[in-house]
Amino acid sequence: INTCPVKIEDESLVLAIARDTSVRKKAEEALIRSERLKALGEMAAGVAHDFNSLLAIILGNAQLLEMGVESYKSEEIKERLKIIIRTAYKGGDTVRRMRLFTRTELSTRHFSKIDLNEIVRSAIASTSPRRRYEAEAKGVTIKIKEKLGKLPLLLGSRSELMEVFTNLIFNAVESMSEGGEITIRSEAKENEILLYFTDTGKGIPDTLKDRIFDPFFTTKGPKTLGLGLSVCYGIIERHQGKIKVESIKGKGTTFTISIPIGRQSPSGEEQL
Ligand SMILES: Nc1ncnc2c1ncn2[C@@H]1O[C@H](COP(=O)(O)OP(=O)(O)OP(=O)(O)O)[C@@H](O)[C@H]1O
Ligand SMILES: [Mg+2]
Repeated sequence: INTCPVKIEDESLVLAIARDTSVRKKAEEALIRSERLKALGEMAAGVAHDFNSLLAIILGNAQLLEMGVESYKSEEIKERLKIIIRTAYKGGDTVRRMRLFTRTELSTRHFSKIDLNEIVRSAIASTSPRRRYEAEAKGVTIKIKEKLGKLPLLLGSRSELMEVFTNLIFNAVESMSEGGEITIRSEAKENEILLYFTDTGKGIPDTLKDRIFDPFFTTKGPKTLGLGLSVCYGIIERHQGKIKVESIKGKGTTFTISIPIGRQSPSGEEQL
């Protein structure tokens, strides 16, 4: 409702304009809902496609192994098993990511006291088998270094941040098709914790920097969902933090995460 005083023939009156915004609100809500459904539909189609290709690879290799188990050399058997394992890892990844992406609960009630360095170390350890497979498949070496400073505890979600770090590590691995080095640094400033994920990969062209955090944006072809960074963005935002990218084409990329200390609180009760 908008009001303003008016004078009509010496009489002081108030002009009130009431607008019924419920119709507009409903239309906006419907639009958001249909956008979300569209996004979900696109994702379901993407995931179905993704899984079909993964299953075809697993099945094909398992069938070949079954037929040739007596005649194959152990090298060939190993090679096919490796493909099966690598493909299954990819499938697991997609499932994990879907779960986070479709999560509608935005609450921070499940936040607990966490040590970001410990989560970084876990992410490095848990990505190590797939990192090795990817590097071996391409015949390259990918080193990973950690330079972790002393950090205070933070309120947050261990599993969600683990997902962020895992995504950043795999993006780095995928950007280094000729091998290279990933360095993960952490430091505490006065009011915030900073994490840097640096790779020596192919970099991101300036024209794409604005789009990499969009859901479904990918440069990796139709078999890739393009959800990794959008999931990271949402999770860091929920921790009141920021994620930024700096990159030089051909040289490498650094993702910087900053999370303020002591601003996240589970349902507003506890503050570190
Ligand atoms: N470290 C990096 N180096 C170079 N390019 C990157 C890096 N990280 C992300 N990108 C670019 O940003 C795009 C989006 O990344 P994102 O993780 O969201 O999706 P994706 O890796 O393509 O697919 P998904 O993560 O779903 O498997 C990538 O396709 C790639 O072009
Ligand atoms: Mg990714």
